Amino acid sequence: MNLERIATDFAGIKMKTPVMGASGTFGFGLEYKDFLDLKQVGAIISKGITPLPRAGNEGVRIAETPSGMLNCIGLENPGIDKFLSDILPKVRQEAPDTTFIANFSANTVEDYGVMAAKLDVDGIDGIEVNISCPNVKEGGIVFGTDPKAAAAVTESVKKHTKKSVIVKLSPNVTDITVMAKAVEDAGADAVALINTLTGMVIDTRTWKPLLGNITGGLSGPAVKPIALRMVWQVANTVKIPILGLGGICTGQDAVEFLLAGATAVAVGAENFVHPDAVVTVAEGIDNYLENRGLSHVSQLVGQLKA
Ligand SMILES: Cc1cc2nc3c(=O)[nH]c(=O)nc-3n(C[C@H](O)[C@H](O)[C@H](O)COP(=O)(O)O)c2cc1C
Repeated sequence: MNLERIATDFAGIKMKTPVMGASGTFGFGLEYKDFLDLKQVGAIISKGITPLPRAGNEGVRIAETPSGMLNCIGLENPGIDKFLSDILPKVRQEAPDTTFIANFSANTVEDYGVMAAKLDVDGIDGIEVNISCPNVKEGGIVFGTDPKAAAAVTESVKKHTKKSVIVKLSPNVTDITVMAKAVEDAGADAVALINTLTGMVIDTRTWKPLLGNITGGLSGPAVKPIALRMVWQVANTVKIPILGLGGICTGQDAVEFLLAGATAVAVGAENFVHPDAVVTVAEGIDNYLENRGLSHVSQLVGQLKA
């Protein structure tokens, strides 16, 4: 891999490659150290961290679907305090050269700010704000489906951190460009899209939903055309950089997202099929650049001829 050709600056976050491990599919990075060289990972994006430890949902949490999967993990994680005291030091010791982005969520605007302040420490290179969570003070409406709530979360986070703030958008909206514009206007340094699409599976023997939570989030190759369309729409709407994800399995998939307007990409569900995918996707991008006689990955960004 020609690391000069693919080194990427994403909203001020320096990465060796433009390919990150997507939140919730890459643990805290260390879980993958036997499968790939963490030095060749663009960035580790952590599992979603919350103010308190969460056990996650009960019952079945994962179901395979044609070309994809549904999950309803329910944000199982050790909570921010244990993350900061136990996990982050281990990550920095074992993967000192790998860019690390902390993904987090909360249930009130104020708690998003508290989380951002706690994560404003050395060893974290950027933060990714998951807004696909219910706002408990406003009847449980998901922050990421309400432009005013998404903007309020973004402002609260920005007020409490010096890190680059990536706001991760939900695709479960009528017009994702409205959400992207709302968080850009509220000060987001970048957007990530897409999170999972809400879906369900029914067991016809029992007439019950297969997943413990009834519904779950769809991801994997099945969602790629939707994710790509949304990245392209958002790229035509905002000026801040875009992290594109949704169904990326190969370098060729990643190149599509870059052409649509993403500056960097992340690999999610594919990590469960090929645990070295974050590196093979980067190699695929690099091979593509070489074959096309291009000297840097940035020459692809937003170059779609439409
Ligand atoms: C098992 C699983 C857990 C996930 N957990 C999180 C999470 O904690 N926070 C988050 O922002 N996104 C989470 N996601 C969403 C992914 O980061 C990604 O946005 C989505 O899966 C689309 O990418 P993909 O099709 O490559 O998987 C999760 C996805 C999966 C499959």
